[in-house]
Amino acid sequence: MNGLKLLATGRCLPAAAVTNEDMRRYVDTSDEWITTRTGIRQRYFCAEGENALTLASGAARQALADSGIPKEELGCVVCATVSADYATPSLSCLVQAELGLPEEIPVLDLNAACSGFLYAVAVARGLLAQNGKKYALIIGCEVLSRLMNMSDRSTCVLFGDGAGAAVFEAGPDFPFYALQGARGDKAILANGPGPLAPDLSMDGRAVFRFAVEALPHCIQGIQDQSGLSLEKIDWVVCHQANERIIDHCVKKLKAPAEKFYKNMARYGNTSAASIPIALDEMNRDGKLKPGQKILCVGFGGGLTWAAALFTI
Ligand code: COA
Repeated sequence: MNGLKLLATGRCLPAAAVTNEDMRRYVDTSDEWITTRTGIRQRYFCAEGENALTLASGAARQALADSGIPKEELGCVVCATVSADYATPSLSCLVQAELGLPEEIPVLDLNAACSGFLYAVAVARGLLAQNGKKYALIIGCEVLSRLMNMSDRSTCVLFGDGAGAAVFEAGPDFPFYALQGARGDKAILANGPGPLAPDLSMDGRAVFRFAVEALPHCIQGIQDQSGLSLEKIDWVVCHQANERIIDHCVKKLKAPAEKFYKNMARYGNTSAASIPIALDEMNRDGKLKPGQKILCVGFGGGLTWAAALFTI
């Protein structure tokens, strides 16, 4: 099967940033508590007129424009989300209509929580292999502020809204390695019953323990598949849940910390959007150079985990 190369990225955030200090409007907390335990300093919440469609289409429009690919050449649209505007139509279908994307291609949403973007990359690769087309539009988009119980201080300070998007090209010469896994469990991280119930609940310590196992497991898995050591990999982009989770993993692997990108300070945990938002930030900051290899790793609700190594 062809590999995938990252061609272009985009991101879209709500207009208003909400600082840790602002969170004191909702719960008894402090900037010091949030920053020292998570590295998060602010996040964005949708306000009136902002929703999953405005975020997802904003990010997708930017990625498509930067890719230079005529939209008629897209081979699939996959959006990873747990917080779409409607159960149906899917967020991807709404983006398709909004951007005037082609009809004779698969357009679907996928729920793998914080691993969703990387599950979507793997699914999109399979869809392109099936229909023989070259380009995939992949979006990660969340309006987690809809799911949060704003009186639960142990969860509401952690998450944020946002969207990231990427256009990938399929080709035989592009290195690509991926893995996905899951361990069904609703005791330690759940939202429901029913879609968009504002009652996200989490056993923070159990999630932490899971995450610090999942991250090294994924990195090791990709290294075993590819035969590439971390020295040969230019960037590691982990799901941006918590700075301490990434630091723990760097220490455990004795890995070069400077390769692990971190931006949770600015966005909080945006679930499926966190990896494509990070990729777009790195791209626009000039950190990504042609030929570089990027290893992305996701972990979260489900429980799920996933990783993908691709080139730029
Ligand atoms: N502000 C102030 N105090 C808070 C607080 C907040 N926002 N949230 C919880 N607390 C309090 C608790 O009530 C508790 O008080 P108590 O000791 O009087 O009962 C105290 O802080 C310690 O809570 P604890 O849960 O033991 O803290 P912790 O060190 O485990 O850190 C997390 C909590 C959530 C930051 C940590 O468990 C974590 O990062 N887990 C992973 C979460 C995650 O990333 N989830 C998404 C994965 S995709």
